[in-house]
Amino acid sequence: PDSVTMNPTQLGFSSIPGGIEDRVILPPGYKADVLYAKGDPLFSGLAPFKNDGTDVDYDSRSGDEHDGMHFFGMNASGQYDPEASDRGILVLNHENLEDNTLHETATAKADAIFANDIQELKKIVDREMNGHGVSCVEIRKENGKWSVITDSPYNRRLTVFTEMQMQGPVAGEDFVKTKLTPTGTTRYGTMNNCANGYTPWGTYLAAEENWYAYFRVGNVDALSEKQKGWLARYGISGNGWAYRQWDEVPGDQYQRFGVNTSGSTATEDFRYEPNLHGYVTEVDPFRPTQKPRVRTGLGRFSHEGAWVAPAKEGAPIVIYSGDDSRREYMYKFVSKTAWTESDRNGGLAAGDKYLDEGTLYVAVFNDDGTGAWKALTISNPELNGDHTYNDDGTTYQYSFASEAEVLASARLAADVLGATPMDRPEWAVVHPTNGDVYLTLTNGNPSNRPSTDLDAVNPRAVNSNGHIIRWREQDGNHAATAFEWDIFLFGSSADASADYNVSGLTPDNEFSSPDGLFIDPRGVMWIQTDDGSSGIRSKTNNQMLVAIPGRVGDGESVTVTTSDNNGQESVNTFIGGDADAVKLKRFLVGPNGCEITGISMTPDARSMFINIQHPGEGGSKEAFNTDVSNWPATSRDATAFGEAGNRPRSATIVIYREDGGELAL
Ligand code: FEO
Ligand code: CA
Ligand code: CA
Ligand code: CA
Repeated sequence: PDSVTMNPTQLGFSSIPGGIEDRVILPPGYKADVLYAKGDPLFSGLAPFKNDGTDVDYDSRSGDEHDGMHFFGMNASGQYDPEASDRGILVLNHENLEDNTLHETATAKADAIFANDIQELKKIVDREMNGHGVSCVEIRKENGKWSVITDSPYNRRLTVFTEMQMQGPVAGEDFVKTKLTPTGTTRYGTMNNCANGYTPWGTYLAAEENWYAYFRVGNVDALSEKQKGWLARYGISGNGWAYRQWDEVPGDQYQRFGVNTSGSTATEDFRYEPNLHGYVTEVDPFRPTQKPRVRTGLGRFSHEGAWVAPAKEGAPIVIYSGDDSRREYMYKFVSKTAWTESDRNGGLAAGDKYLDEGTLYVAVFNDDGTGAWKALTISNPELNGDHTYNDDGTTYQYSFASEAEVLASARLAADVLGATPMDRPEWAVVHPTNGDVYLTLTNGNPSNRPSTDLDAVNPRAVNSNGHIIRWREQDGNHAATAFEWDIFLFGSSADASADYNVSGLTPDNEFSSPDGLFIDPRGVMWIQTDDGSSGIRSKTNNQMLVAIPGRVGDGESVTVTTSDNNGQESVNTFIGGDADAVKLKRFLVGPNGCEITGISMTPDARSMFINIQHPGEGGSKEAFNTDVSNWPATSRDATAFGEAGNRPRSATIVIYREDGGELAL
């Protein structure tokens, strides 16, 4: 096999300019092909994607809004082979929907509801529920080109309808028993799968992020105060984001998205349906007949993803996961059972062994650069007794009766333990050789954090552009309960004041809102952005940058003065700005309206898979966003402009070098 360069100190490309062009832009010598786009069929006999919103069979073709992703190498006998670089299963999340372009007309659903045309509405809602979830896709590289293997036995779609098994402490509890799930041991579907993870035993972890927004809450008078408090703390109220309305369709599969106490008991209605969501789901791409398993031991919140630290013989499995909402927390799970190498390839049975029993922790970041992990477990005496949660003037009493309750209301337990609220924890990654953990904090705004409410780890009065922090666990042990942290990098416009542009970014590497994060096996870091209107979108589309990171502790003490939108000044001192080690360069710019997300690389470092999510976002409904983007082109060259009239499509692209060399070096 081709050799790779470990621990490089130089990047072998020049930073590319930012830009607003409706195509993928790469450094000279690089190419990218569209591999798997929204609507692409997984099986023969299905028509190719139509450009008119009439496709109905999304349970057999690519879903929408490609997000977190992992490439699982496969050997000739169809087994997981982490060394394979020319054949494998690509597993990816379909986070959400591009509502403007999914259906025949932009107002199709509203029209069907208004006309009370239930048959038409069901067709539309089925398309939406099937457009979510996870894809497993066999891909192969032949003559230097990757392609999807149509009809592979590994091709599979998980959707909002797919039956899954509840596992871990929450499974079977009374508060997860509903009309469709009277035993509390099954669940249907997964939605809003943002980022992901993968295990040393060859399985995929799909996280649920903004799942709470899919529920509509009706009359819940009969719920206990504790349950009402759970709904409030997880933001499940009213019409949610008021855009899915799946419970307008008759039938339990749809009615479950309407939360109410209309039955005389919990198994006659869907009062507890939201308690079945907000977890991490484990999928075995190599055993496609097995039901996915919902790992409740990792806690319930808006999981951005689930990143597993490198496994060490005799040490626990450790998984990092941020809660991506404003002012939420950073968590980690430590397995009870110690890792043994004989479980490589163990599939979901290994998942049962390592993920169903363990301890969930939440992070406290002290201003002096130290930190602590606090245990979210019923045996922690700090959680004893009664507590109160105040939501906009309404106060809820709560307490914890079991380990299952601590995990299912992890946010409330973390509140009690004094966890540090963060500027939206997104992706985490463990450096493959030195063990430092990096975390993107995508951004913050004063609506949820008063600009005077600062700490050293969230040091900006108004953090419009986000930052990346890092920590080292005590003695390099990922199961440790103490750590040291500093700040690696701050997003900023290049022309911001020096007090704000702490990392000294220039037009060649300015960025905003870091989200996707990956350190490849060589030690090269890749940063992807999800920059909204308050960032630098007037200067460049979303992008991917490359850095060679230093170590925790390389940062220097910095004191900055920042002001909020009202000119209120805040002075803060923190450790950060690892300028010498950054060497940050812009590698890729995406098409108009897209986010760059999802990342995986073959072990030979010659092929990289990333996702172009929702190109065309921000366009008009009537024009199906084609007024913003027509990407991708029919030629499937990701760097080409699409033809006029093409509805924009989320897609996985594969990036490679024309000369077949290692990426980025
Ligand atoms: Fe779906 Fe936190 O980004
Ligand atoms: Ca994300
Ligand atoms: Ca994001
Ligand atoms: Ca997005």
